[in-house]
Amino acid sequence: MKENDIKKYYNKKIRELRKHNELYFDQSSPKISDKEYDEIKREILNLEKKHSYLTSNASPSSSLGFAPSKNFIKSSHRVKMLSLSNAFDLEDLENFEKRIFNYLNKKIDVEYSVEPKIDGISASLTYKDGLLVLGASRGDGMIGEVITENLKTISDIPQKITYKDFPRDIDIRGEVFIKKSDFSSLKNNFANPRNAASGSLRQKNSEQTKKIPLNFIAYTYGYFESKIIKKQSEFLKSLKKWGFKTSEHNKVLKTINDLENFHKNFEKDRFDLEYDVDGLVYKINSLDLQKRLGFTASSPRWAIAHKFSADSAYSQIEDINIQVGRTGALTPVARIKPVNIGGVVVSNATLHNEDEINRKDIRVGDTVKIERAGDVIPHVILVDLKKRVKKSKKFIFPNNCPSCGSETIKEFNKTTKKHDAVRRCTNEGYDCEKIAIEKIKHFISKEAINIDGLGKKVVENFWNLNLIRFPQDIYNLDYNKISDLEGWGDLSVSNLKYSIDQSRNVPLDRFLYSLGIRHIGIENAKLLAEYTKSITIFLNFVKNKKLNEFLNIDGIGETQIYSLKKFFENKSNYRIVEKLSSLLNITDLKVNKDGKLLNNTFMFTGKLENMSRAEAKSLIEENSGSVVSSVNKKLKYLITGEKPTTRKVQQAKELGIKILSQKDWLNLLD
Ligand code: IVH
Repeated sequence: MKENDIKKYYNKKIRELRKHNELYFDQSSPKISDKEYDEIKREILNLEKKHSYLTSNASPSSSLGFAPSKNFIKSSHRVKMLSLSNAFDLEDLENFEKRIFNYLNKKIDVEYSVEPKIDGISASLTYKDGLLVLGASRGDGMIGEVITENLKTISDIPQKITYKDFPRDIDIRGEVFIKKSDFSSLKNNFANPRNAASGSLRQKNSEQTKKIPLNFIAYTYGYFESKIIKKQSEFLKSLKKWGFKTSEHNKVLKTINDLENFHKNFEKDRFDLEYDVDGLVYKINSLDLQKRLGFTASSPRWAIAHKFSADSAYSQIEDINIQVGRTGALTPVARIKPVNIGGVVVSNATLHNEDEINRKDIRVGDTVKIERAGDVIPHVILVDLKKRVKKSKKFIFPNNCPSCGSETIKEFNKTTKKHDAVRRCTNEGYDCEKIAIEKIKHFISKEAINIDGLGKKVVENFWNLNLIRFPQDIYNLDYNKISDLEGWGDLSVSNLKYSIDQSRNVPLDRFLYSLGIRHIGIENAKLLAEYTKSITIFLNFVKNKKLNEFLNIDGIGETQIYSLKKFFENKSNYRIVEKLSSLLNITDLKVNKDGKLLNNTFMFTGKLENMSRAEAKSLIEENSGSVVSSVNKKLKYLITGEKPTTRKVQQAKELGIKILSQKDWLNLLD
């Protein structure tokens, strides 16, 4: 993309974010899930990371945050509520200290107040003569919302302070947050504790705020004058004495090296804390020095936030479960102590397969590093062997399917001449409960039969209620029973009925794909559908044991044939297909009849550039052409890629068939 287009795209995302901020904060009626909202934010941050020229006040990276909501009365902060600049590594820390020395024009021995950076919502509490008179959110840093009543519902916040040395006029600032344990027992759809805390704090009615258990930890001040308190660490001690909660992990350290080491260890232990922490804050301990250093436009010169990795975290494995997939693959999954990785609370991580567990010697009770990046499923990167307990035992992978008890095997791969890493249940049909459920989930999925309103969760629910055992049961549901179930109203039942009826008309390729036969994905299902044309003919191939004929199809090989045979050898599978074909209207593939390539046949030989065979084939078919798999008189064009088969080219020449390069062919299509 060009710079201009990138900017346009970035601005579009910012506009989206603004719109959803308003819906969420001003109107309290979010239109998207927290996950989707976080996705927009993440995209904006990623764009900024890649293109340094992108900035916006509304960006989540900006110090300014959201404008105050119209729902609350506004209040100007007497002292601005600024944010902190971030450090991600040792170099950033060294630069931070260098900047301080440069500013002071000399090197000095510094002392840092080190505090966990609690991942919550900041709030400012104004006390006059010992009474809490105002509680405000940060808002845009200059003007916040008055949320005194909501803050008063938090028992950690004292409303009256009688200590003699408590300043007569002071703003106490700190973080409002939800404990991890409370978050996991909350039934809501917030992506993380921070979002839940934010939602609760901004309720119009403080009775609503009461329902979500909020906490408050104090760490700084806004307006405040003192001649006695000389250090941040002393201020923290005073806060504690005055009745505020402060973090039990606050400490004082001196060198950048100490900071780095403390950070490393803290990052490893953070999953065990009661609340989410996304880094450590280092503040110059001397308040006099803080005053001298002052602020830049958006943050203090005397403090920095040393962030934890946004795509990995340490946690502890509480258990290892074995999941059984649609094709019988046994996938071990680690259940871990929930940990917030880049805004998403992760409590499961895949361990891939038996070999992976053995290679890394992953055990229950181990402390492990987990990565969660982009769309990749969270997975274990390494085991912290130093933290392994003496009693820990090697994990023994089960030899039998945990769902049906059948034997499991690791198949021998003829191409690689090795055994697969994946262990599989040998049960091919619906006799294995877990496989059956997964097969039904696949059957109803978008690219298969596509039944809207019958999601994966509903399949599980219906299975547990004994409403479905096989795909055909979907066409025989007892709707009266369903409408009695919790969560099902007349409208949702009639929607379900409608989409089930709609799904009865299905093209052959999607039907074949929906059967969930191993190695028969969408592309292969299309190839089979094109070759057999109708379900009757397809089933004749099966009945007459002529599946080997499918080897004539370009793209179908031994692996697919073996898999098809195995599937249909299982009597219940065969019965299901027969039953479904009587219940459904399985139609032929729709062919485009007015494209440029109508009545033209093509064949490929050799490797195509920047394009798979499947894509090339779709391209031809979209333009009404067809692809054949052998050189004969019916063939009009042979398209040659890199290293074409000499024999095929020779045959084509003999039959007078036109030979095209990939470029010639693409030219035909413009
Ligand atoms: S000091 C000017 N101390 O981090 C000093 N902030 O990006 C600003 N935070 O808005 C705050 N723990 O919400 C400070 N121990 C701590 C903190 C902390 C969490 C949050 C706070 C602030 C943000 C700064």
